[in-house]
Amino acid sequence: MSEYRNEIQKRRTFAIISHPDAGKTTITDKILLLGGAIQEAGEVKGKEGSKAATSDWMKLEQQRGVSITSSVMQFDYRSLRVNLLDTPGHKDFGEDTYRTLMAADSAAMLIDAAKGVEPQTRKLYEVCRLRKLPIFTFANKMDREGKSPLDLIDDVQNTLEMDCYPVTWPVGMGALFKGLYHRLEHKLLLYKKGESNPRIVQLEHWSDPKLKEEVGEDLYSDFIEEIELLEGAVTSFDRQAFLEGKISPMTFGSAKFNWGVDVFLDLFSEHSPPPQGRPTMEGSAGPEDNFFSGFVFKIQANMDKRHRDRAAFIRVCSGKFERGMKVHHMRLGREIRLSYANQFMAQDRETVDTAYAGDIVGINDTGNFQIGDSVTNSSRSVTFKDLPRFSPEIFGRISIRDALKRKQLEKGIQQLVDEGSIQLFADPGIGWQDPILGVVGVLQFEVLLFRLEDEYGVQAKLENLPYTLARWPVDETGKRLSTLNGNIKTFRDREENPVVLLKGDWELAWAARENPKVNFKFTSLNDQ
Ligand code: G4P
Repeated sequence: MSEYRNEIQKRRTFAIISHPDAGKTTITDKILLLGGAIQEAGEVKGKEGSKAATSDWMKLEQQRGVSITSSVMQFDYRSLRVNLLDTPGHKDFGEDTYRTLMAADSAAMLIDAAKGVEPQTRKLYEVCRLRKLPIFTFANKMDREGKSPLDLIDDVQNTLEMDCYPVTWPVGMGALFKGLYHRLEHKLLLYKKGESNPRIVQLEHWSDPKLKEEVGEDLYSDFIEEIELLEGAVTSFDRQAFLEGKISPMTFGSAKFNWGVDVFLDLFSEHSPPPQGRPTMEGSAGPEDNFFSGFVFKIQANMDKRHRDRAAFIRVCSGKFERGMKVHHMRLGREIRLSYANQFMAQDRETVDTAYAGDIVGINDTGNFQIGDSVTNSSRSVTFKDLPRFSPEIFGRISIRDALKRKQLEKGIQQLVDEGSIQLFADPGIGWQDPILGVVGVLQFEVLLFRLEDEYGVQAKLENLPYTLARWPVDETGKRLSTLNGNIKTFRDREENPVVLLKGDWELAWAARENPKVNFKFTSLNDQ
């Protein structure tokens, strides 16, 4: 039992959130390098002649240079077993990212030091806040001129309404960047281009004259001016407040030159929380429970096109996973065997025989799983609360030139629906043979067309429809309604629930006026 507990206490599961271009792929690469998971840093993806970064494995990602799917990477750092969940930064892939955050126990927020908090960072931060996830902050691109560190902190505090605790303080910036002063350990870490290991000078205190000798008069006086202000304003680091998501330890560096990534990882290994429990319909399930339980937060098909396979990614929430174990599939209400389990490292995979709370396992799936499904080997029910679904914002109808490809089209669409990247709706008068597709962002439609052609050999066309909202109407008792006043047409979602598709907020307001007792719900979930 104590070995089992040790294994769980060793686990750390986190995701990196950032606005596109802040440097997430670059820092992921450097983290994997420091963690020994890769031997050579992959150059930034999407460039002629360069290697794709390890976390970006899909063809489209490589072509477009955007990170679309979330992959899971595992490595050891110090005494920890770390699961790093890669999240797509593009705004159109928000839903996938939100679901990935449900599988993480902490997050690292990456900020471009020149740009500060950008819109997508803010949106993702809101999800972290909702879950009270502890967040580390890394101010990247210190090798370039950017905002002053004090302005950056101000920006984070004002934009996100979250306190920051700078664990390090930069000495210089851009071409003059010399290194970091570690406020908790009173060390000066000096970095040079082409060298990723810093030279470390132990100091007594930030006012130690050795610092001046190392960095020179000018940088020293700027540093002293800033740090005096900082010391006056910031109190000591409160770990409890961090674990509650109220204060973020912050550090600085450059992912490109591998400066400060080591400091971030040390900070992470010291302070990140071990696996946390998750709410279930029956109470909660957590690492202390001795039964196995987990939920599916992601489904990914065709990771290897030659095998036409599909993986359901399960976050283990309690207990121990053993390959071949029989579990109860809560939604299907029957037992299934988890026979083929993999851990993924971009396109490479390894068979997993055991995994513990905090780990992510990819189960080879023949169509049993949907996003949000719960599995357990407990004799009691363990149903994790449903993952959030967003109302799509863009709708379209798909058509194909070659009618003989209809079967493949259906298969491809079914696959992408299971993966959670598109939602399906049907007009009851027409039926499911000609569904309406809904997505959160336009890039998802592009991916749909690309994948239909690439993986299923189907050339399809999309005709845009004028809707921008989906709402699920219920009466005051929560009963679903398929007839509404005002001649408002209801469609069906994939579970045959009535849903209305609307052109905008004005139309929703009008529908609500016509049907004052109806609640137009934002999601299809029963409890919201
Ligand atoms: P993302 O995954 O968050 O979208 O960002 P990604 O790592 O792809 O980085 C976006 C751009 O920012 C890349 O530039 C990358 O090299 C650069 N970058 C990342 N970290 C740093 C850093 O610490 N300092 C500097 N100066 N740049 C950084 P690019 O123009 O796409 O490629 P490249 O010409 O720089 O190779």
